[in-house]
Formats: sequence, C-alpha cells, structure tokens
Amino acid sequence: MTEINSVTTLTRDGDVAVITLNSPPVNALSGNVRQGLYDGFKAAAASDAKAIVLICEGRTFIAGADISEFGAAAGVPTASLFDVQDMMENSPVPVVAAIHGTALGGGLEVALCAHYRVAVPSARLGLPEVALGLLPGAGGTQRLPRVVGVETALEMMTSGRHVPAPEAAKLGLVDELAEEGKLKEAAIAFANKCVAENKPLVKISSNNTKLEAAKGKPEIFAAFRKANARKFRGFAAPEANIKCIEAAVNSATFEDGLKAERKLFGELMMGAQSAAQRYYFFAERQANKIPDVPDDTPIRPINKVGIIGAGTMGGGIAMNFANVGIEVVIVEQQQAPLDKGLATIRSNYERSRTAKPEETAKRIGLITGSLSMEEAFADVDLVIEAVFERMDVKKDIFAKLDAICKPGCILATNTSGLNIDEIASVTKRPQDVIGLHFFSPANVMKLLEIVRADHTAKDVIATSMKLAKKIGKIAVLVGVTPGFVGNRILGQRQREAQKLVMEGAMPWDVDRVLFDFGFPMGPFAMSDLAGLDIGWVKEKSNGETIRDVLCEMDRRGQKTGAGYYDYDENRNAIPSPVTEKILHDFIVKSGVNPRKISDEEILERCIYPMINEGVKILDEGKAIRASDVDVVWVNGYGWPVYRGGPMHYGDVVGPEKVLAKMKEFQATMGDQFKPSALLEKLVADGKKFSDLKG
Ligand code: 3HC
Repeated sequence: MTEINSVTTLTRDGDVAVITLNSPPVNALSGNVRQGLYDGFKAAAASDAKAIVLICEGRTFIAGADISEFGAAAGVPTASLFDVQDMMENSPVPVVAAIHGTALGGGLEVALCAHYRVAVPSARLGLPEVALGLLPGAGGTQRLPRVVGVETALEMMTSGRHVPAPEAAKLGLVDELAEEGKLKEAAIAFANKCVAENKPLVKISSNNTKLEAAKGKPEIFAAFRKANARKFRGFAAPEANIKCIEAAVNSATFEDGLKAERKLFGELMMGAQSAAQRYYFFAERQANKIPDVPDDTPIRPINKVGIIGAGTMGGGIAMNFANVGIEVVIVEQQQAPLDKGLATIRSNYERSRTAKPEETAKRIGLITGSLSMEEAFADVDLVIEAVFERMDVKKDIFAKLDAICKPGCILATNTSGLNIDEIASVTKRPQDVIGLHFFSPANVMKLLEIVRADHTAKDVIATSMKLAKKIGKIAVLVGVTPGFVGNRILGQRQREAQKLVMEGAMPWDVDRVLFDFGFPMGPFAMSDLAGLDIGWVKEKSNGETIRDVLCEMDRRGQKTGAGYYDYDENRNAIPSPVTEKILHDFIVKSGVNPRKISDEEILERCIYPMINEGVKILDEGKAIRASDVDVVWVNGYGWPVYRGGPMHYGDVVGPEKVLAKMKEFQATMGDQFKPSALLEKLVADGKKFSDLKG
C-alpha cells in the first residue's frame, strides 16, 4: 500500500490500481482530497496497472465540494478539481468509480469523469448545488445532460434530487449495480472485465447524441420554465442551472459550454442568495447540536406513541410516526370525533399516494383509536397531547397521564405557546415533560420546535431530537416563553401589519411587499386562507376590530368567498372595495390622518421588530444560537431560504441600520420599537447577529 497523503491511499489488486479516499465525515473535496486524488491518479497512471478503481471509505462516496471552503480565504495551493477530472478522463487505462452512500455535486462530477460507474443499490446520486444557491461548477451541467438527456437533467439539477442507484442505472448514470457490501470486489471485477473485453474509455464530454435531440427546440426550456415558475420564484439558481443546460445544447463545443457554466457559477457564488443558502446549510446542521446534551447521551426507546386528540393536529402527528413504522394509539373523549379523525387520516393517506398501496395499508394499520387513556396509554413510550389551548384542560390531562403512564414514558405537549413548566408542575415527574410543537399540517411541515422546560431531563431532549430526525423533521430546541421562538417573533410582524392598515396602507400593499420579499403569502392573504373566524366568537363580537366587522359581514376568508380580499370563482384574490371602506371608516373614527406608506417602510416595520425580538429571545436564553432562530423561520414560517432567516438578513442589512431604524420608529411611533439592550451592545461592540448565542 502506498500512502499518497493523509486521506488517500493507492493499493493493487492484480492488474487493478485502487485509489481509496478516507476523509470523514463525507469525503468532501477539500484541498487535501483534491491533491490526494490528483497524486493518486498520477501515480496509478505511471504504474503498470491496467485499470484504476476509485473508492471511498466511511459512510459515503464523495458528497461534493467542501462547502466550508466557499467564500473562505485561499489556503495552501492544491490541485484543482478540473486538474483531477482531466487526469481521470484522459487516463490511458479504464477508470471505474465505485459508489456507496451518496455521490453528490462535485462527487458526482468526479464520478462522471470516470469511464464507468459501479454502485450499490442503496447509493444515491445527484447534483444538489441548487439547494446551496449554486449550480454544478465542475462540468456537471455539461456532462449530466449528455448522459441522461436534457429533460431529466433539467429536473435533476433544478430539484437537486438524490436519485437512487437503481433509477440512476436506468438513466445510464450507473453502469452496473453491485451487491450491497461487495462494492470493492464488484468494481475490481468490472475493471478487469473492461481490460479483458477491451471496453472503450468512455468520455462523456465527447458524446453529444443526447444533446442533439434537444437542438433547435427552445420550447423544451420554455415549457420547463413555465411549469416551474411558481416553485422557482425569487430564486436565482434554478434559472442559472437551466441556462447552463441550454448552453450545453447550443454551444459548438463542450469547452464553450464549460465556459458558460464557469461564468454563471462565479456569478452565483458571489451573490447574496448563495451566501444565505450556504449559511443555512450549516445552520440546519448546527441546530442538532445541544451544548449540554452531548451526542452520546443515552436515548429512551420509542416503540409506541400515544396521542390525545384526533383533530387535524393529532391526526397529522400520528401519520409522522406511522410513516416510520411506529405504532400509534389516538385517544378521544367521544366515538364520533375519534371515527372522524381516523377517517381523515385514512383519506389523507389515500389521497397523498406517497407510498405503495401495501405500505399505505400498513401505515394505516399502525394507527388505532381508543376512548380510554387508561387502557391505551399503559404501555406507550411517548404521549403527545394535542388538544385545544387551555391551561386548565392541559393540566388536567397531564395529572391523569402522570397516574397512568409507565415510568420513563415521555410526556409531551403540542402547545404552541403555553407555559410548559406550569403544565409539568402537576406531575410528579417534570423531568419527563417536554414540548413537541408541530406545525400544521403536521404530516407535511418540516419544523418541530422542541421545548425544554426547567426540569426536562437531558435524555428526554436527546430522545426527542433523534426521534425528530427519524420522522423527517428539522428540530430546533427552544425554551419556555410565550409563543416560543416562532410565534413570539410572528407576533411582532402581525402587530405591525395590523397597525399599517390603520394608518393608510391597504392589506394588499402589505401582502405584496412581503410576497415580493419572498414569503409565500402576506399576513392578510394568510388570514383569509386560515379563516378569519379562528378564535372569533359571534356572541362576543362587537365590531371593535376590522376582523370583527368582516366576520359579522360573513366575510370569513376564502371559505366564504370573501375576507380581507374578494375572491373570484377560481379563488383568485382581488383587492376589495368593501374592506377598503371598512378600513377607511375605522381610520376616520380613530382620528388618524391616513397617509401613503412606502414599500420600504412596510418592509422595515414588519421585519426589523422581528429581528429585535430574535435578539431578545437570545438574550433571555430561549434559543441556543442566532442561526436556530433562522432555522425556525425558514422551516416553519416561509421565510425565503435565499435570505437566510431573520438574523442572517439582519447581518446583510447591517446591525447598525436595524438599530438606527428601530430608534427612528421608536421616536415617532412608540416603545414597541424599543431596541433591545443586547442590540445596542451588539452594535457598540461591532459584532454581528450571527455571533449571538443564547
Ligand atoms: N462540505 C463540507 N461539509 C459537509 C458537506 C460538504 N459538501 N456535506 C456534509 N458536510 C458535513 C456536515 O456539515 C456535517 O458536519 P457536522 O457533523 O460537523 O455537522 C457532516 O458533514 C455530516 O453531514 P450531515 O449531518 O448532513 O449528514 P447526513 O448523513 O444526514 O447527510 C449528506 C449526508 C447527504 C452528504 C449531506 O451532508 C449533504 O447533503 N451534504 C451536502 C451535499 C452537497 O450539497 N454537495 C454539493 C456541494 S457543492 C459542490 O459540489 C460544487 C461543485 O459543483 C463544484
């Protein structure tokens, strides 16, 4: 065995040279890895080997470029990825890439420079750069369509999808599937076969057949752009990816296409969107790290889950567990709502068709119902209470759970803002009580706020974090504070939105500004969608608020065909003269002089108080770090990922500007804009929001 460098070895198996990379955790293409590959291929080519296999140790094949190197100062000069690729593609003997785990981004781009690819069925291949606000910048945009064709390349590159190896084999990305656990042997055997059969040294870059099919057909791209316009709105990277594939089709040579790719890659890399998306990539991974709950904290086994409440929330939560094979029992007080809840779950499964029919049946079969907590919960490992938000009801339930559940059972509440310490106080085991705040619809929304109360045990936190990952959620650990992190910050935006329309802005002005910022919809369109009558009681309504008046007029949102907006037969929202008149009357009555409010003011008044609230939350220790606040807002509240989250956005705008504006608003509009002491300190110390820890 020759040690090429600290992450690369070169060994021999008969006529085959085997280059092995071992750079944990994911064999990313850091300078050291690139240099190892370069020197490894050089040494292999200089030897008498008749073929070369590239394989990786650890959990995965190369998972891409090293993202932490992007935007960082250049280190010691090393071989570039292009140097490595040239060496591979022009190797005088066949090169076989042996793929397990994931071959992603630069990893797949390296594999595409091998003459052949062998993969185990569990491997996944893809070009996910788009998720980082980028495009494949090492020839992937030019090679992928040459292998899979233009349409598939468009779909793969703009979605970033990780394609399972069996599908990749059908697409021609993988030449042979190896038996699981026998990758190295299979790749060496394949390499020997290449030699024995004198197989050609396939250079993807020089095969244009698949591109020819799309030549002179701009309609392919036009149709793709049109079909995905909504999904791509606001993002720069999908369009740049599409342009690169157009360049592959329309350029005279591979090299010309590569030039277009490099130019667009450079533009994205320098842009604010990719910086935000790369920041967010690490933010999401950071959120898993709890400083005082180390990775090796023991976890409690969760084999059966109990849920209280068969409403929309309880049902959605149940589906998460059944989807990963965990048994669930739902308890309701009456048979009718229980039956209704179980029927809704069934129809949700049948409508979604995400799994094969037999798998769907299995999942439905894992969810049962009961009218008795005593009977249903004696053997569960976790109970999640998902009833309406009333402290007395929740306390009553937790006192009962304390009496019924076995020792060690985790007692969780799905409250979206009530005090969990108070709920825990009625039990004799507050160490087992935690908040699991799912977002609606709970089977779809990715965010899970895990709420740590005063006495929550570390292993309960560790178990909840692991379980969240298992059910496909992105978990953020937060502390007990009204509304927790997400809703507490939302409260700031909602307040300003309501105030703006009382000063002369129209609901559609506020919505448009926030929509253009990148939110899927503004607060008033959102209210119309959710229903204005949530929490509204007819008998108590006295026309004191705009909502009261709208609901009294039976304008309760989309479901009644009108709310803040009017709706046409296709549910398109139309600015409403009725709402305008109601607002006008309110403003006149309040004695305020309505004024024209600029888009800039709308945005700043909605967003800066959110950032200030995020700072307060961190100051109070209710979130661990600034980026956790961002993960909550991107995943739970539609904050556009290409703006990183409220705290990252604060850094883009600049803490000084946020502070100055808050002071200006405070002087003219009152103390709801009072900057937090920590914001003042942050600016005085010349620090950034992202430096803040809770
Ligand atoms: N660069 C640097 N670090 C990376 C990385 C990368 N490409 N991919 C993963 N990591 C790190 C993570 O930050 C994490 O570090 P931590 O343990 O310190 O938090 C560790 O590796 C493990 O990652 P995950 O927690 O995400 O592990 P999973 O097993 O859940 O997922 C994965 C593994 C599917 C490979 C996932 O990490 C992933 O999707 N990585 C990114 C893949 C990617 O986007 N590749 C393209 C990069 S851009 C590129 O290649 C440009 C090129 O075209 C020039």
